[in-house]
Parts: sequence; C-alpha cells; structure tokens
Amino acid sequence: MITKEQLKIKPGKLFIDGKWVDSVSSKTFSTINPATEEVITTVAEGDKGDINLAVVAARKAFEDGPWRKTDARDRGKILLKIMELVEKNKEELARLETLDNGKPISETTAADLPLIVDCLLYYAGWPDKIHGETIPVRGEFLNYTIREPVGVVGQIIPWNFPLLMAVWKIAPAIACGNTMVLKPAEQTPLTALRFGEICQEAGLPDGVLNIVPGYGPTAGAALAEHMDVDKIAFTGEYITGRLIMKAASRNLKRVSLELGGKSPNIVFADSDMDSAVNGAMTGIFFNQGEVCCAGSRLFLEKSIHDEFIDKLSNKASSLRVGNPEDSSTQMGAQVSKEQFDKILGYIDSGKQEGAKLVTGGERFGDKGYFIRPTIFDEVNNNMKIAREEIFGPVVSTITFDDINEVTRQSNLSIYGLAAAVWTKDIKKAHKLARDLKAGTIWINTYNTFDAGSPFGGFKQSGFGRELGIHSLELYTQIKSVWINLGT
Ligand code: NAI
Ligand code: MG
Repeated sequence: MITKEQLKIKPGKLFIDGKWVDSVSSKTFSTINPATEEVITTVAEGDKGDINLAVVAARKAFEDGPWRKTDARDRGKILLKIMELVEKNKEELARLETLDNGKPISETTAADLPLIVDCLLYYAGWPDKIHGETIPVRGEFLNYTIREPVGVVGQIIPWNFPLLMAVWKIAPAIACGNTMVLKPAEQTPLTALRFGEICQEAGLPDGVLNIVPGYGPTAGAALAEHMDVDKIAFTGEYITGRLIMKAASRNLKRVSLELGGKSPNIVFADSDMDSAVNGAMTGIFFNQGEVCCAGSRLFLEKSIHDEFIDKLSNKASSLRVGNPEDSSTQMGAQVSKEQFDKILGYIDSGKQEGAKLVTGGERFGDKGYFIRPTIFDEVNNNMKIAREEIFGPVVSTITFDDINEVTRQSNLSIYGLAAAVWTKDIKKAHKLARDLKAGTIWINTYNTFDAGSPFGGFKQSGFGRELGIHSLELYTQIKSVWINLGT
C-alpha cells in the first residue's frame, strides 16, 4: 500500500487556465480527515472573483483555444490518456479519497476507482460517434443536424463520492467538446485537484477544465448564477437544487440535477433471504450510508420479518467500523462534524417518534465521526426518519403484507431516485419495476452501477440522466441546417 510519505499532499491551489493559483482574496480553508478530526492540508478558497476568472478561461478555451479544433477522435485519446494516468495512480487516489472523505480504503479501491476508470473508458469511446442526421424534409432542401457542445459548463459536486462524481460530469463534457468549471465540495476538494494535475499531464488544453474549490453559498452560487455559463450540472441536496435552478434562471442556463432519495428496498417472503439480507446491508451501510440512492426504507413482508431482522442485526452489529485506512475496515467515518450531528439528530428523532431501536443508535469510539450501523424497526412511513434523507448508516424498517400496499407506500415520498425488489417471482418483479416511481430499479441486487446505464431521479430527486448515452444529451445541443437546393 502507498505510504503516507508517498502521498506528498500539497496545500491545494485553484486550477484556472492551466495554472495553479492562489485565490484572489488569498483566503484558504482547511480540509479535515474525519476519522481523526485532524487537518490534512489547507486549500485556496475560491469565491466570486475566482469563479469569474475560471469562466473567462473556460470561455476563451471554448471559443479561441485549440479545443474547438481538436478532432473528436483526439478528444477520445485524451480521455484514454487520463484513464491510463488514473489507473497508474489509483492507489494514491484511493488513499487520498479515504483520507479526505473517511470512507474505507477497501471501498475506494474496489468501488470508487474502478468505476472512475470505467467511466473514463466508456466516454473515451464516444467523441467520434456523436453526430447529427439528415432529414427527408419537404421541398427542394437539404436539411441536416449537427450535435454541438453546449459551451461553458459549471459543475457542482458533493462529498460522498468526490472523484467519481467529478468524473461522471467531466468525462461526458470532454467527450462532447465543452469546457468546464468544476466546484468540488468544500469537505473533499483533494482528489479533484489531483485529477486536475492528471488532466494537464494527459494533454488537456489549458482552460478546458478549471477547478475552483470553495463554499456553496459563495463559489457555488457565483457559478450557478454566472451570466456566461451555458449549463449547470449539480449533485447534492434537493434544497440546494432549488437554489441552483433559481440562480440558473438568470440567463436561462440549462440545468441538470441529481438530488437525494429515500429509496425503498422491498423484500418479499419468496426471496432468497440471505441475498436479500446482504442487499439490505449494502443498501444502507455502503459508504456509511452517504449514498443518494441508499436503501433507507426497508420494507419487509410480515411473514419473514422476525427472521430477517435477526439476521440483519447480527450482521450489522458485527460490521467492522473503524480506521478507514485499515484494509479490513468495512465502515468508516461520516464526512464531517455537521453530517455526524445531523445523523445523531435523526437517531434521536426516531427514538422520540416511537420507532424501535434494534442495534446501533450511537457514536462509535470517542474520536472521529464514526456512527454505529443503526437499525430502526416498527417504523411508520410517516415518521421523520422514513420521510427525510438521513444520509447516514440508519435504516428504517417498515412491515407490509400486501403488494399493492407496499407499492403505494414506497411511492409515498417526495423522492424517486431508486428502488429495489427482492423476490423469485418474475411477475411480481416486473410489476414493481413498472409501478415504482424511481429512476433506477434493482431486482435482487442493490447499488449496482455501470458507466453505460443511465442514473437520475423521478420527482424531487431531480432531472436529467447521467451516464450512458443519456449524458450526451446534457452536454450537447442540436443545430438544424437548411440548404436551398431549388432555384
Ligand atoms: P449541498 O447540496 O449543500 O452540497 C453539495 C454541493 O453544493 C457542494 O459542492 C456545496 O458547496 C454546493 N452548494 C451548497 N450550497 C450552494 C448554493 N447555494 N449554490 C451553489 N452551490 C451550493 O449538500 P450538503 O449541505 O453538503 O449536505 C446536506 C445534505 O444533503 C446531506 O445530509 C444529504 O442529505 C444531502 N446530500 C445529497 C447528496 C446526493 O448525492 N444526492 C450529496 C450530498 C448531500
Ligand atoms: Mg448545504
């Protein structure tokens, strides 16, 4: 494993127009290791002025730089080169992500990095396959379409999968020929900055990707409202999503939002129970529950309830929580003190509302933002812990005995990001896949992803689909060209 000495963490600078610079204000902020509560390093704090410089650089790179004239296939080559460099440095990146975010090294190694590499590989294959069409219009005309980049794109990302969320947005934007200003989350800016160095080394021209760490209400808001940004892509809380839409309305920039969830994980009596128990574990405890599509509402059919809860609580209470850098650790620290307090607040609320605490429900250890895997039983779908996104290792169990009732209750949420169903009955599975209002449906699996398969929400979980061919829609616009062939 890569050692602490090999990590060589520098104070982070802003990455604007291919240069590493201090912020206009010279202000910095600290980024913390949530497992130890210690400062890792300081990072330049971007604000309105820095965002403006980054947008100017991105505009110049889009209109006048070599990017516009870079052949599509060569954009693919750059993405492949970025992918190679990420692979070459994957241990360092995994380690850095674990330090900054608190998630276990086993997960950054087995999930984040392979998904990042795959996403780059997938979009590396796209640039020379993005094309328009010729349309058989009436009359003596030739009509064809061109699929063009949108222009300067602002990307605001969260802290739960810091580099993966950056790459979900950067890879398709590069594939389509846009230029970008990325604002990483203030809690986890380090891997995005290291990725900026990698892109530079891979030959991405100056100004194509600008990275400006800073806070949401300052740097984030400045990017969302900037008059010369053509599109904004956001992942985060739905309340922030509303602010982004409002800010974006100033110049009617295109918006795509990937927001939260309160996803139902539905287990029928006719499922393979051990797989479903494992699925419930992954659904809520993967990444400390800091997953937008976490299976945070666990619906259990009445006849299997007792046995299921027994098995689940045994597994949950023996999950290895602790030092994220230890390769045997299964659950790490929550990202920040704020998040840690918020989760403990929800645990209190669950107790007060009369849910039954089966296991967990408290802090783990006395240093670092660790919370024990927590299971609430006898939850009612109207309780706060069943309605609001907790974004932590806390599952709310609700019992049902009828397929129509569980469908209705599952859909009773402002969110609609994902849903899972565990059953051996193919008819039931397809029926629920049809009837559940969510952007992703998992049957007998949970948290399964692929760069080729679209991801995004129904209802207040957002709109626009990332990944796959669908992300190309977000980063291109269509031009219709008419040529008079008559006299
Ligand atoms: P957030 O939505 O405030 O932050 C996400 C990103 O948006 C960060 O980069 C932040 O700096 C930026 N941001 C914040 N306010 C902004 C504004 N006014 N204008 C522009 N950008 C802004 O999420 P936060 O506060 O970190 O977490 C709060 C809760 O949100 C979590 O407890 C969780 O429930 C949810 N969340 C959901 C995520 C998801 O993937 N759907 C990711 C992160 C948080
Ligand atoms: Mg916030």
